[in-house]
Amino acid sequence: MKAETENLPCVKVEKRRGEEIRRALKELELLRTDAKINSDADFIYLPLIRALKEAEKREIGVAELLTREFAVLEPRRSIEDIVGLKPSYEIIGDIAVLTDVINGTNDQLVAHALMSLHKNIKVVAKRISPVEGVFRKRKMEIIAGENRTETVHKENGCKYKLNLETVYFNPRLAGERNRVAVQVRDSKEEIIDMFAGVGSFSIQVAKRARQSHVAAIDINPDAIRYLQENIRLNGVRNIEAIEGDVREIYVKFRNKADRIIMNLPKSAYSFLREALCMLNPQGGIIHFYDVVSSYSDLSDEKRKSLEIAINKAKERLTAKIEEACEQEEFHFQLEILEARKVKPYAPYAYIIGIDAKVKK
Ligand SMILES: C[S@@+](CC[C@H](N)C(=O)[O-])C[C@H]1O[C@@H](n2cnc3c(N)ncnc32)[C@H](O)[C@@H]1O
Repeated sequence: MKAETENLPCVKVEKRRGEEIRRALKELELLRTDAKINSDADFIYLPLIRALKEAEKREIGVAELLTREFAVLEPRRSIEDIVGLKPSYEIIGDIAVLTDVINGTNDQLVAHALMSLHKNIKVVAKRISPVEGVFRKRKMEIIAGENRTETVHKENGCKYKLNLETVYFNPRLAGERNRVAVQVRDSKEEIIDMFAGVGSFSIQVAKRARQSHVAAIDINPDAIRYLQENIRLNGVRNIEAIEGDVREIYVKFRNKADRIIMNLPKSAYSFLREALCMLNPQGGIIHFYDVVSSYSDLSDEKRKSLEIAINKAKERLTAKIEEACEQEEFHFQLEILEARKVKPYAPYAYIIGIDAKVKK
């Protein structure tokens, strides 16, 4: 970054008090953070936005004010400054993924701007298909940087190795994964992640609840291979990675689960019978995810429309649980604990999460 010099008001403080005073000035928003602090043998000089008032000097505990020359850094340029538009992208590990599937004209420009702004980005890729098929994969095209789609993503203190083209991974569910992991903290439960992918829920949950056991199931062999690697990477021992169709595997876990994670939006309803069979008859919790249609911006009218959509999803889940319980002749009690928006999914659509408690 290019630096120019400017004469600025500043405070002169003894070096031993430098950090304390710097923090105080920063907190009061009086420090010029774009100017480089300078020093000599005994003192440091902290550049200011403006000269201090007497009361401020007393509050901070400084006496000596002067004017001095400081190197001033150019403000950091944003991607918008460089390319003249706000591209939509997400960062997974060291790969930036352009998420706007339609507009391709500026891809190269955006890719090189991203790499110059974020030195940790080694690859820029672009989504070229929606999430498809049983494995929920999507196709990618490399736009710039190294020719690979494998990376290691860090989230909430966990590491996930994954390949963007062969497995599903969504960095925007980090908050949701943390929410579920916080609920199980220090618990001793049997937890089943029915659609585990590379272990994004399972590993966070297993890390927080070392006494719990997590059965992480996925039908995609690549996801299971990464899951096994991620179990090693994160040093978690209380996870069992199981490859296969949960429609067959569930029989092994009949009546065992205290908690079930069902992250297969749009299709999870058709697995409710298996989930209910696996639930502990004493009662257990299902974390259920779905996609609902609503407006994308949340002004008052539109917020109402999302509320209506979430209520409909609650009713649908209730009806489907009833139906599955009747099929299996379970007498059951159902309580919807919570239903909420998780994240935008597409224009006019959201992923929502519903926590349901079921005793059968
Ligand atoms: C939306 S992804 C969720 C992955 C992971 N839970 C996450 O949040 O990153 C759904 C996963 O379910 C898996 N899947 C789909 N049908 C399945 C089935 N019948 N049995 C087991 N896994 C299945 C897919 O391979 C995919 O990895």
